[in-house]
Amino acid sequence: MGGAVELVVNGEKHQVKADPQTTLLEVLRDEIGLTGTKYGCGESQCGACTVLLGNEHVHACVTLVEEAVGKPVTTIEGLEQDGNLHPLQQAFLDEDAMQCAYCVPGMIMSAYALLRRIPHPTDEDILQHMHGNICRCGGYPRMVNAIKRAAGGKP
Ligand code: FES
Ligand code: FES
Repeated sequence: MGGAVELVVNGEKHQVKADPQTTLLEVLRDEIGLTGTKYGCGESQCGACTVLLGNEHVHACVTLVEEAVGKPVTTIEGLEQDGNLHPLQQAFLDEDAMQCAYCVPGMIMSAYALLRRIPHPTDEDILQHMHGNICRCGGYPRMVNAIKRAAGGKP
């Protein structure tokens, strides 16, 4: 491990001991203890590790911690406010849009980035934006419904 690196995650500062070449995913899970962000493939293929870096959604398994210095990181744990689930989290529950749920934190973080950019996305917008997130359980139709519900549209 290298020297201290300062990260701002979900609005809180964290000093972590990490080599700058360590991945953001390792630091989030193993150093900071935010295990909501999942390890799936480790090769930027599945989207299970999606977080926001600034306004961009990124795959934390291939993002080096040095790339996150000076940019706010948002993880799934950062979405609820004052004990209330984010509308996307609530919509995934309401639409029963999960089976094993391993992919869901990454799905929600990608959808969060989408709704920040396009508050009322079309089906086409959703499918195009979410193509980097894989669900082994095949829950895609319910997930699209959940994203539409969170956007205030009819599922
Ligand atoms: S674990 Fe990062 S994309 Fe699969
Ligand atoms: S709900 Fe199981 S991988 Fe998506």
